[in-house]
Amino acid sequence: MDQITVFAPASVANVSCGFDALGFCLETVGDVFHIKKTDEKGIQFKEIIGQELPLDPKKNVAGVAAQALLNQYPANCGFEITLTKGIKPGSGIGSSSASAVGIVYALNELMGLGLSKRDLLPFALEGEMLASQAAHADNIAPALLGGFTLVRSLDPMDIASIPSPPELYAAVIHPHIELKTAEARKVLSKTVAFKDSIQQSANLGALVSGLYSADYNLISRSLEDLLVEPKRAPLIPHFGEIKQAALDAGALGAGISGSGPSVFALTQGKETAQKTANAMAHVMQATSIPFDAFVSAINSQGTLTMNVDEIL
Ligand code: HSE
Repeated sequence: MDQITVFAPASVANVSCGFDALGFCLETVGDVFHIKKTDEKGIQFKEIIGQELPLDPKKNVAGVAAQALLNQYPANCGFEITLTKGIKPGSGIGSSSASAVGIVYALNELMGLGLSKRDLLPFALEGEMLASQAAHADNIAPALLGGFTLVRSLDPMDIASIPSPPELYAAVIHPHIELKTAEARKVLSKTVAFKDSIQQSANLGALVSGLYSADYNLISRSLEDLLVEPKRAPLIPHFGEIKQAALDAGALGAGISGSGPSVFALTQGKETAQKTANAMAHVMQATSIPFDAFVSAINSQGTLTMNVDEIL
């Protein structure tokens, strides 16, 4: 194999009650990598399409993740990369994670290393750390593995995959303002009240249970964030109204996607997801902030190789 095209999906981290631990994979939005082997060694970004990002591999997330892999598994060739960014950096739906997982997945395939997706996570994490200046794998794990994932530990990396019920859908609204993860982490408290920590753990446990048992009511009751949302909500214009609109439209729950500014909602069924996306969009239409909104099933596949038919 001397070239490959890979789709790396967007993802929603935190999912209200699972800060830095829980995340799920989206299916309609993502980045596409096209990578060719070259005789000249090293990583070279030929073009990044769709977003203004540095072509210097040391300064972009994908380059750093690739170098982490190559440090451990030196290649006898180089790689020329064309990256089409379908995810805007700073949008809150795992832009940096998609870049990090897409490239390590592609290099593993091109070099025939035979590493599993789980083996690739630590390399992707190194790239992700460049963007958020903190180690968290709650976007890279679902983006690479698909479905819902829970990061129990980063060192050693211990990731649990959690099933999701078939009728579970997400509605996402992305207000076009940039909110850097590093900035959104600065507003968080260093300590939390013991009773809030207990309730947050109970919500997370119950959410996982609801996902296993397809208990949509339990999922709904568990989508509550006592620790992070109250601190970050003021960073997102109209967050309260967007969330209320989603709940009024029948969503099971809604919250900040990752570190924002995107807002996600989970619903039972695609029709309710569409209604929810429309309701959230309606709030945004009354503002001067451009946005986009979309509906997605939970993507169970994660990062994958695209075949020629899909590309043409
Ligand atoms: N868990 C991280 C945060 C996700 O909320 O800061 C960042 O995308």
